[in-house]
Amino acid sequence: MNNLTQAINAHLESEFQASHSYLAMSIWLREKDLAGFSSYMLEKSNEERTHAARMIAYLVDCDEEVVLPTIQAPERHWESVQHLFDRVYDMEKEVTASINRLYSLAEASSDRSASAMLDWFVAEQIKEEAEARFVRKRLRLAGDNAAALLLLDQQFLEGTALAHVKATMLGFSTDQP
Ligand SMILES: [Fe+2]
Ligand SMILES: [Fe+2]
Repeated sequence: MNNLTQAINAHLESEFQASHSYLAMSIWLREKDLAGFSSYMLEKSNEERTHAARMIAYLVDCDEEVVLPTIQAPERHWESVQHLFDRVYDMEKEVTASINRLYSLAEASSDRSASAMLDWFVAEQIKEEAEARFVRKRLRLAGDNAAALLLLDQQFLEGTALAHVKATMLGFSTDQP
């Protein structure tokens, strides 16, 4: 197994771990009856699995070996919704750093197909970080105001909470397969 294949396999852990953590977050939020935040995190959990699937498909198509990682049990409690989204933001930053390391490896070995595959992930991480940053800032603004928190939850339920971020990210759209 070459270095890059090894590194892509190692990266799968970040995607699966994020999926698992986001699922745990979705459960915690649902337990708090924050249905909007909960469904958003469930959607994010499913999305992370599709990211892993995208890399797995790449490895198989290139006739490279896939080694699925062991996933650790995720955290199950957070001090507040704000703390939870701080963690989401940190995790997305970690995933971005990992993607950037893969990109450097692909470039160092002049692996054009790997770079092309990773281009999608670079754009996706810009979107993911922008979303996490926006939610985090909204929650800072809401502070201890329950009405503001419930309003944001309602916006997630209606699918409008991130409309502004999505509109400004159109140039980086990764929605198409
Ligand atoms: Fe991801
Ligand atoms: Fe992500």
